[in-house]
This record gives sequence, C-alpha cells and structure tokens, in this order.
Amino acid sequence: MFKLPDLPYAKSALAPFLSEETLTYHHDKHFNAYVEKLNSLITGTGYENLSLAEIIRKSAEENNKAVFNNAGQVFNHDFYFKCLGQEPDDNCPMKYEVLKKLISNTFSDKEDFTAKVTDAAVNNFGSGWTWLVQNGDHIEIINYSNADNPLRDHPDMNPLLCIDVWEHAYYIDYRNDRKKYVTALLGSINWKFVASQAK
Ligand SMILES: [Fe+2]
Repeated sequence: MFKLPDLPYAKSALAPFLSEETLTYHHDKHFNAYVEKLNSLITGTGYENLSLAEIIRKSAEENNKAVFNNAGQVFNHDFYFKCLGQEPDDNCPMKYEVLKKLISNTFSDKEDFTAKVTDAAVNNFGSGWTWLVQNGDHIEIINYSNADNPLRDHPDMNPLLCIDVWEHAYYIDYRNDRKKYVTALLGSINWKFVASQAK
C-alpha cells in the first residue's frame, strides 16, 4: 500500500510562488485522492505487491486506465513536489556541473533553456505534465497529457524535473494564467534535487 509522502517543506515555504492554500489543496486533497484511489484499485490484485514504476508499466501494457492514471498521478506528484522549494543561493541550474553540461549540450544558453521549457509547458494542451528527461548527454522536453509520464514510454531515459500544468496546480494563485505560474515555478526550482537525479 502506498502512503501520501510528506511535503519536503512547510506549506507556507513556497509563498509567494505558491500559497499555503494551494499546497493544502494540491497535496492534501488532490495528491492524497490519487494515493487512496490507487490503493483501493490494486488491493487484492496482481498489482498489489509491485513497485510504483512496475505498476505504471504493467497497467499501461494491460491498458488498465484506472490503475495507470492513479499510479501515474502518484509518481508525478511525488516528483513534482520534490522539484520545488528552492534553497537560498540555489537559483541557477548552471551552478551544478552535471546540469550545466546537459543544458549546454542541448540549448544555446540558460535563457534558451528557460524559454523552451516555458514554451512547452504553456502550450501543453489541456491537463498534463511537462517533463524534462536526460537522454544520454542531453535533455529532452516531453509534454504528456493527463497522468502520463516518461516511465511508460521512455524507461531508458532519466527523469529530471516535471511541471504540473493541471489547473489545480495554479488556479488559486494564478487563475488561468499558466505562463505566469510556469515563469514563477522556474524561479522556485530546487536545482540541487534536479542535479541529484542526473547521471
Ligand atoms: Fe497536480
């Protein structure tokens, strides 16, 4: 059985980027609902003793959409909340040699990196996730819909960062202004965590 992971920071810690109210709804209500639903769906089934990654892949293969959607949302939200919560003096991915190399190999400079991530997230149609994954020595930006994620279609690639573009992630603080949310988010990333995911 899966448990709702605690946030790695206080609910007030991300203000003004994200309010305590947003984190209370997003973590305690939305994320928790996916955890509880997943547990109810897998109890007594062949999924029960598998890891989350195994459940995502197996449910995709079996086209079990209910299990896939809830397992995907549990994985995505856990990763997303870990990507947030910038430490003081940690405001630039180029501080980390591993990220500097990946970004330099993929984009013309840090501004190009920020612009392309922002553009992808803003134009990810409907509800979904914008993922950055490491593919060898470079970064790929992949837009997914609903609960989908790179564990399903790119198990060979290494997840680095994800952006929740469901409106429940930003509507309280930004209403429908996704670009404003994404711009603020990219100024609030825990780059130390992202760097720790790179190989
Ligand atoms: Fe979400």
